[in-house]
Amino acid sequence: MAATKTLVLGVSGSIAAYRAADIAREFMRAGYSVRVCLTDSAQKFVLPALFEGLTGNPCLVDTFEEPITGRMAHIDWARQCDAVVIAPATANTINKIAAGVGDDMLTTIALATDRPLFIAPAMNPNMYSHEATQAAIQALTERGVEFIQPVEGDVACGENGQGKLASIAEIVTFVRDHLDTPALLAGKHILITSGPTQEPIDDVRYLTNRSSGKMGSALAAAALQMGATVTVVAGPQKAPLPKGAHVIRVQTAEEMLAATKSVANPDWVIGAAAVADYRPANRIKGKMRRESNEIALELVANPDVLAEIVKHHPNALALAFAAEPDDNLEKATEKMKRKGVIGIAVNDVSNTAIGFDSDQNELTLLLQDGTRKQSGRQSKTACAKWLLTQLVELEKSRV
Ligand SMILES: Cc1cc2nc3c(=O)[nH]c(=O)nc-3n(C[C@H](O)[C@H](O)[C@H](O)COP(=O)(O)O)c2cc1C
Repeated sequence: MAATKTLVLGVSGSIAAYRAADIAREFMRAGYSVRVCLTDSAQKFVLPALFEGLTGNPCLVDTFEEPITGRMAHIDWARQCDAVVIAPATANTINKIAAGVGDDMLTTIALATDRPLFIAPAMNPNMYSHEATQAAIQALTERGVEFIQPVEGDVACGENGQGKLASIAEIVTFVRDHLDTPALLAGKHILITSGPTQEPIDDVRYLTNRSSGKMGSALAAAALQMGATVTVVAGPQKAPLPKGAHVIRVQTAEEMLAATKSVANPDWVIGAAAVADYRPANRIKGKMRRESNEIALELVANPDVLAEIVKHHPNALALAFAAEPDDNLEKATEKMKRKGVIGIAVNDVSNTAIGFDSDQNELTLLLQDGTRKQSGRQSKTACAKWLLTQLVELEKSRV
């Protein structure tokens, strides 16, 4: 039988701290041993006795506390766990961890641990969208910290927006998926294109599109969790790319094509980038001046990046993405055939709840043999795992 995994559950001073008791219980039901650490502010909402009674383990609150005399608890807990989960995480605690501050037991454990760190923020929407908080989230994501996105809705202070703690089921599933994902892609090298491209008009302007790169990032993170080696050729995207992926940054479609060709022997190629179909025919040096009321910008077709990669890496299993303005799948089917890929994952970008810049997606996977599969509406991370698992099944059935 597999050894029980241990989690450190950090609870900080959010009004959502009361939900940490259920989070601890659900992790225990899922088979984890849970050790809880409270910040001082968390103790204004919940008490150590609650968690000690629930978990059967000591609950730490003070940096200098030593449940085993002579053993530094922050180091013991940081080393003896399989992951640290902070839920709920306040703006203060997130910003402190990003800055490397360790001025209480929880932030000291977060600094000391080399295990996966999961953070579920909960706060007022203004605190969540504050530049400092977003910069901290970005910096931590780039360091490999996994965030369980807060949801939109009415928050305790009476305001509305993104900041509500994710559901307990989502937090537990997210962590379990990360820690217990079978290594279905071990030994595989997966090449992913991600984000938009920018096609310069002059030295200060360019043509681009609304792709945030979130789907490409989610695919990269999911493939890494499933044991793959991952190379991402990324356009200038907003979404951070996961630690552990080899990232090649590009700007234009032509650069994207050259970079993907430079990647040696990928087993799979996934074209999740929103590559501009056209680019300005003549890039103007310096800055185009306003001289007349009308101008005509001449455009020329960009290379079809994915079709070219398929030709360049003929042995790789290749999958395309299609952002369609409605749920008509005819255009996507044509695109799949034109590009020579095994399948195409289609999302309906006219639906603002999914697609561009959203954390959610809903994919229809069309395969060359006419099969259609639906992911259902899920987080982009869950959609990415679903898609990769479909490809594993597809590859098995072809052998
Ligand atoms: C009633 C009340 C509710 C609060 N809820 C939150 C919250 O949900 N999220 C948050 O970031 N801060 C919240 N705060 C502010 C934090 O408690 C405060 O920033 C504190 O310093 C956080 O400390 P900690 O990060 O060490 O737990 C709340 C404060 C009060 C008084």
